[in-house]
Amino acid sequence: TYVIAEPCVDLKDKACIEECPVDCIYEGGRMLYIHPDECVDCGACEPVCPVEAIYYEDDVPEQWGAYTKANADFFEELGSPGGASKVGLTEADPEPIKSMAPVEH
Ligand code: F3S
Ligand code: F3S
Repeated sequence: TYVIAEPCVDLKDKACIEECPVDCIYEGGRMLYIHPDECVDCGACEPVCPVEAIYYEDDVPEQWGAYTKANADFFEELGSPGGASKVGLTEADPEPIKSMAPVEH
C-alpha cells in the first residue's frame, strides 16, 4: 500500500484523489488517508502531491513511520467502504493525528 504522511496535515491539497483509479483515498478532519486493503499500489497519486506527502509503504521516511499505522487506524470503524466519494468527509482521524498542534503551511 501507499501511505500519506505529515505534509498532508492541515493542508489537504486533494490532487491525489483525482488520480486514484479505485477511489481509496479518504478524507479525515486533519488529513487524507489511503485504505491499506483497497489501494492497488498503482502509484498514480504519489507524484501529484505538491508537498510529497505520499510514499510507498517501504519508503516512508523514518520520522513519519507512525503514519503507516495512522492510515490503517483511520479505517478501524469505517471498515472497507469500497469507495471514498460516497463516504465524504469524516472526523475519524486517529487520536494522535486529531490531537496534533495545528500545522502551518
Ligand atoms: Fe494530502 Fe497531498 Fe493528497 S497534501 S490530500 S496527500 S495531494
Ligand atoms: Fe490509489 Fe495511490 Fe493506491 S492512486 S491505488 S492510493 S497508490
